[in-house]
Amino acid sequence: PSAKLVLDSAFALAPVPRRLFGSFVEHMGRCVYTGIYEPGHPTADAAGLRSDVLDLVREVGPTVVRYPGGNFVSNYRWEDGVGPKAERPRRLDLAWHSIETNQFGLHEFMDWAGKVGTEPMMAVNLGTRGLQDACDLLEYTNHPGGTYWSDRRIADGAADPFGVKLWCLGNEMDGPWQVGHKTAAEYGRLANETAKAMRLIDSEIELVACGSSNSAMPTFGAWETEVLEHSYDAVDYISLHAYYEERADDPLTFLAQAVNMDHFIEDVISTADAVRAKGRHRKRINLSFDEWNVWYTEQFHGDGPQPKDRPWVEHPRLIEDEYSVTDAVVVGTFLNSLLRHGDRVTVACQAQLVNVIGLLRSEPGGDAWKQTIAYPFEQMRRLATGQILRVTATGDRYDSAGYTDVPIVDATATYDAETGRSAVFVANRSLDETAGLEVDLRDIGGSALLAATTLHAGNGQDRHTTNRDDHTAVVPGALKNARLADGTLSAQLPPLSWTVFELE
Ligand code: AHR
Repeated sequence: PSAKLVLDSAFALAPVPRRLFGSFVEHMGRCVYTGIYEPGHPTADAAGLRSDVLDLVREVGPTVVRYPGGNFVSNYRWEDGVGPKAERPRRLDLAWHSIETNQFGLHEFMDWAGKVGTEPMMAVNLGTRGLQDACDLLEYTNHPGGTYWSDRRIADGAADPFGVKLWCLGNEMDGPWQVGHKTAAEYGRLANETAKAMRLIDSEIELVACGSSNSAMPTFGAWETEVLEHSYDAVDYISLHAYYEERADDPLTFLAQAVNMDHFIEDVISTADAVRAKGRHRKRINLSFDEWNVWYTEQFHGDGPQPKDRPWVEHPRLIEDEYSVTDAVVVGTFLNSLLRHGDRVTVACQAQLVNVIGLLRSEPGGDAWKQTIAYPFEQMRRLATGQILRVTATGDRYDSAGYTDVPIVDATATYDAETGRSAVFVANRSLDETAGLEVDLRDIGGSALLAATTLHAGNGQDRHTTNRDDHTAVVPGALKNARLADGTLSAQLPPLSWTVFELE
């Protein structure tokens, strides 16, 4: 197979939204406890934060991190997690059938986010709680002082407000599994009233209304319409969540799932814009794709023991998926899908950061490492700067059980006029064939190929290889066959690979 791309700075879509490269820390399984926080670990700092994990997080570099859930937030009392640790209550977390010790809470998260250098994105509980508690939390985090909750924050050790800008109005409220699940009418009204009240406390905040938990929800489309009809003027974003997995050994359909992601995004844009037209609104609602990843949910939802069948324990091992070469290539195509819609998807959070379907893994008392999927994320976060380019592509296509006419080579590109640098991000979806690539660079990046790296199954590996045992088994390596001549970049992309070119 082969593909040709044309890149031209005249065809810029939008600036790369920096919040596109977010991640997610939920009180779920071992994401927080023995993930980012483990007092007593040999690398723990004075606050109990794991320095080995902190170092890896800084390298991967999520630009925004959503917290504290997820399903967890829908039965969470945020004030359990502030004040002296010895006085914090142990609670039942109904979402994950776990014991929550509350030894990690708001201040610990803000301390961690500051050490990472990332923007916090908070969610409020609209499951078991509502408007008043959301306002109390916002007063605690963002009000300067001189009121009950802001003075409590100061007494708890933070003289300055945390200044959190991005707020999720609940989580997956359309899902029957959600504690405090609501109809679209119930949620739309609650989201609208909560948003209005929160804006009275802090007019600078940005608010995300819950969209559908995935595009296969029976209420998908109708949910977004009704929620936005209630809340359009009061919110800034509508959320999307999606998880994908390889089923019944059908890798070709799995490798094409970014097509589903593209359609999902485009359908939500159309739905939000239809509400805009009908309501004669001026502003546009943007998209916050605040949970996305590969997740082998069949293992979780299958016939095995379910969370509710286990005894109540602290931070059990939950959905600690080990990611392969195949998963990394698919995650690369998801990043491409987000980037090519970066004019409207302006916030996105890969779920989750550590251990729980994690970019990173860590063992209690042990080591920490990057999963295969961390590499495409880190590369695009680092190299996608300036403008997103509309990529004109021609090339071979394939059919699978789930999709027809799927481009074998999937590509995106960015161009930064300030630095004169461009980056091209390319997946070869063919399982067994090298793909020839030609990129006509027109007026961008024609003078030097700074680097070409590729992630694929190298010597002695197969597409299922993970970083579980050898933590550096799957990492990007140099693509030695890449050439730049007469304004054309050419390369042979290895079968099932994720390749990144840096040019100037
Ligand atoms: O990320 C894991 C879970 O997936 C989240 O808690 C929930 O929002 C989603 O269903």
